[in-house]
Amino acid sequence: MKHCLTLDDFTGDELLHLVQLAQRIKREPAGFEGILRGRWILLLFQKTSTRTRMSFEIGMGLLGGDSVVMDWDSSNFSISPIAYEARYASSHTDLIMARLKFHHDTQALAQNSRVPVINGCDDKFHPCQALGDLLTIYEQGDSFAGRCVAYVGIHNNVANSLACGLAKVGARLILVTPEVHPAAYDSALMERLTATGLVERTLNLKDAVERAQFVYTDTWVDMEFFEQESYRAEKERRIELMRPYQLNAENLAGSDAYILHDMPIHPGFEITEEVVDSPRSLIFEQAKNRLYAQQALMLYLLGISAG
Ligand code: CP
Repeated sequence: MKHCLTLDDFTGDELLHLVQLAQRIKREPAGFEGILRGRWILLLFQKTSTRTRMSFEIGMGLLGGDSVVMDWDSSNFSISPIAYEARYASSHTDLIMARLKFHHDTQALAQNSRVPVINGCDDKFHPCQALGDLLTIYEQGDSFAGRCVAYVGIHNNVANSLACGLAKVGARLILVTPEVHPAAYDSALMERLTATGLVERTLNLKDAVERAQFVYTDTWVDMEFFEQESYRAEKERRIELMRPYQLNAENLAGSDAYILHDMPIHPGFEITEEVVDSPRSLIFEQAKNRLYAQQALMLYLLGISAG
């Protein structure tokens, strides 16, 4: 049984297959209608979500299946060992998608589940986001050959998953990351990915933007802390540090790169409104692509290749 806890769980060929399957679903959705009739997915959330929840719930519904949406804090996952709750929950479902705070909990869920588990974003990885991102990049020319992405921001779970996914499909990633998130950063992983020659780190934003066909950013402040008073000093420190790396007209001058952002957006911080709405912005298409990528992932993990 295969889980999706990180894109490292897949080969480059598997990721290409998933992206091409997602593209087929996007182009010919009628060919996949009802393919998961009678199947159930548990969508378990320990953190807030808009896109992950909507795209999994709607994506499953469009394929003919059903979802149980469960909030961690109002369920007994919050008061009992994950192992027991996972064993029970997986006895009624065909798939589990979980957005948990900690990667070790995502791993424990998978270890005790009788059905495939999909990581819907934890402190270390966001594979579903990166899979949708791969689809968005692939769509611009139906190829990964020669593609180069500059990720500008804090090195976090999204950066990890982009690095895993892009290196697997043979595309390049330039990390412009003045700060690393300690919970996300994995030096062994980054050493391995850097050794491929496809992933590099620099603080030279101008050079990275010139070399990239895609410039990607993400929030500077962990989404669950953004409005918290106790986080104010750290938020202000990060904003001060990251301000020179904002995706704005000045920093993107002369570039015709496509703009990516995984959302939610904090306009005026990591990116300006002008760039969000610029003709080169793929941000809303990128968010929409989560649905097709996740539909492909669900079919693949269930061993269903028809359509
Ligand atoms: N990018 C992303 O995962 O969006 P949500 O947090 O809204 O699910």
